[in-house]
Amino acid sequence: MSRLVIISNRVAVAKARGAAGAQGGLAGALNSALKKFGGIWFGWSGEEVEETTGHIQLHTNDGVTTATIDLSKHDVDEYYNGYANSTLWPLFHYRLDLTEYENETGRGYERVNETFAQSVTPLIDPDDLIWVHDYHLLPLGERLRARGVKNRIGFFLHTPWPPARLFVSLPYHERLVRTMLEYDVIGFQTDEWLGSFLHYCEKELGAEVDEATGRIAFEDRITHARAYPIGVDWDHIQEQCGTSEARQAGQRLLASTRHRSAMIGVDRLDYSKGLPERIDGISRFFDQNPDRVRDLIFIQIAPPSREDVGSYQRIRAELEQKTGQINGARSEVDIVPIRYVNRGHSLAELCGFYRASKICVVTPLRDGMNLVAKEYVAAQDPEDPGVLILSQFAGAAHQLTEAVLVNPHSPDNLSRAIRTALDMPLEERKRRYASMVKSVREEDIHSWTANFVGDLTSLGVDHVPVA
Ligand code: G6P
Repeated sequence: MSRLVIISNRVAVAKARGAAGAQGGLAGALNSALKKFGGIWFGWSGEEVEETTGHIQLHTNDGVTTATIDLSKHDVDEYYNGYANSTLWPLFHYRLDLTEYENETGRGYERVNETFAQSVTPLIDPDDLIWVHDYHLLPLGERLRARGVKNRIGFFLHTPWPPARLFVSLPYHERLVRTMLEYDVIGFQTDEWLGSFLHYCEKELGAEVDEATGRIAFEDRITHARAYPIGVDWDHIQEQCGTSEARQAGQRLLASTRHRSAMIGVDRLDYSKGLPERIDGISRFFDQNPDRVRDLIFIQIAPPSREDVGSYQRIRAELEQKTGQINGARSEVDIVPIRYVNRGHSLAELCGFYRASKICVVTPLRDGMNLVAKEYVAAQDPEDPGVLILSQFAGAAHQLTEAVLVNPHSPDNLSRAIRTALDMPLEERKRRYASMVKSVREEDIHSWTANFVGDLTSLGVDHVPVA
């Protein structure tokens, strides 16, 4: 059996779950894949130093080896704050208005990808499977090939891939996608993002694309692109729900909301999550249902994220202002309609909160998948499940079709959905839950890992290079 070499911007250790969602589940899944296959997880340490040296720090813990490098402040500014999070992230979330196009940060991005390739190459054995993650490292496969790495290399994109008409606004877009075609397998969260990528390859690069199989033939290379919707660690969530930490967290929340229904939102503080739009929808609900103001309390957990990037500073200020406004207008001496919490919580605590909340509201304007939606479903009591309100623009909406689906841009739509959720009879809640839980349980994080690694091992292995 081949070892796995996982490469991502951050090396996620289970306890590093600062922000909600993907990080915790992904860390668990990849850690368990590493335990099974053996191998290493390589990435940035998260430390900023004077100078990038590429020196590797190795740690082995509980059978998993991590290898990290520090980056200089200059590299972090250009690669992480700059190109990754001020260019690619907004562009991939369809936010051309926030996308910055600076050649200088683009060069920093290429430089750090080269540093990653240089540092990780000596750690790679000839039979290893290499699995690269996310938009920080799109050109890494090509950088590894340039160093003579002949291994199978796969890539998984955790974010959306934008429609070709948006993507071409990126200077050097063609150069970037050409580098990606050095991967053997490219994974996307949904058929929608996969379709946009295939369309780009066909129309803009002139590649030969077979839509049915995702086979892309370009120059002398064959790449397979497919959708692999990421899932949560079902068993781990059940375990966490049973802990005293979860029980206490749930009791705390229930005691503090008394007879009111709690509606919870858990998101990294990111403009893609639709947080100000959510507050507008809630405000509209209170306007349209003045008799229900005492029925509902909204709890928004939003750990700050990417705080050195201007657009993140602005969204935080906007959210604080809106939350303050509505609380000022709607509070009474004994009720505050919105509780806004700026820190992360452990998965066990979140499980307790999820179970104690009648409604979970997940309304991103655009999201690759969104694991909070799946975590909420996984944490429900089957005898008295809560209601998930989910944006039609989250990748998760492709699978969780029995959620109350909303257009997050429309305050009226969200207001109606809140009313529907509050009034939903038990039988309907159970029916919707039963359908959603099936997909959350079956398409979990372990099947995701197994599907991707299976395809990376076998897809196109016996292909004949095109002429
Ligand atoms: C998203 C990205 C991940 C990233 C995470 C946290 O889920 O797809 O790659 O790790 O956000 O963001 P951060 O910038 O803190 O790593």
